[in-house]
Amino acid sequence: MEARHEVQRRQIRKPDHPTLPELAEPLHAEVPPLPAYLVDTYSWAYLRPRSLRLLDRHLVVNGILWGNYHALVRAACREFAKGDHVLQAASVYGNLSSRLATRIGADGFLDVIDVAPVQVAHCRRKLAGHDNVRVRVADAAIPGKFQYDAACCFFLLHEVPDAQKRQIVNALLAAVRPGGKVVFVDYHRPVRWHPLRPVMAAVFRWLEPYAAGLVSRSIMEFADRAQDFHWRKETRFGGLYQMVVAQARRCELAVGGGMAQSGIVRAT
Ligand SMILES: C[S@@+](CC[C@H](N)C(=O)[O-])C[C@H]1O[C@@H](n2cnc3c(N)ncnc32)[C@H](O)[C@@H]1O
Repeated sequence: MEARHEVQRRQIRKPDHPTLPELAEPLHAEVPPLPAYLVDTYSWAYLRPRSLRLLDRHLVVNGILWGNYHALVRAACREFAKGDHVLQAASVYGNLSSRLATRIGADGFLDVIDVAPVQVAHCRRKLAGHDNVRVRVADAAIPGKFQYDAACCFFLLHEVPDAQKRQIVNALLAAVRPGGKVVFVDYHRPVRWHPLRPVMAAVFRWLEPYAAGLVSRSIMEFADRAQDFHWRKETRFGGLYQMVVAQARRCELAVGGGMAQSGIVRAT
């Protein structure tokens, strides 16, 4: 009985979900050019092999997030289910991808993209033991033609200019099937009394010039068709971090074009 359900499930999903051999085909004949913001602002962090070796360490990634790395990864992973086909919008230092791959299991599929070939090579090495993963070069603003059950965008938006934030948010929302979800985890404006507020303001001014454009508004504002999604938002650690989940409404609910519905939960 269970086996028959499994076969039916796969048949239903087939038009939207290419089989793994199809997914193994390269999506872009050409590697997209590195965006100027990445080269100009973040070469030191993401494009130099030496930086990868220095920064991709538990102490560093957890320290940068003030000890919140695991809690944020755990919260993100909880949003995905066994068997999901998930798009990860950019490679990330630490173990997010391997935790996602484990979470979705052997029936799931994790498609990790990154615009920087050096990051793709690094991520492939890190995920070598997982059979349900592909890592490829692509811009999150043009992730490809596939439809996924879900997408995960972990600390990418604060590192891109506002025009790209909009493109990436819209591209990820377009990449999930009706009923599917996009999970954004990123910085948020901390509460007024937060002891780290001045520290983070200085870090953003000094190292993260595009973060201000994220923390000054809601992620929903970057979506052209926000009304087609149900939006849920949690903030953590005194509001310094946010997790926003946009769940695609099924078609009959979306046609009214009414106000987007949102729920805000504080998990501090
Ligand atoms: C996810 S973000 C920041 C993550 C976090 N700071 C960490 O610890 O890794 C860093 C990655 O985003 C990638 N990236 C930047 N712009 C991108 C884009 N438009 N599409 C896909 N990847 C992008 C960079 O190459 C880099 O590997």
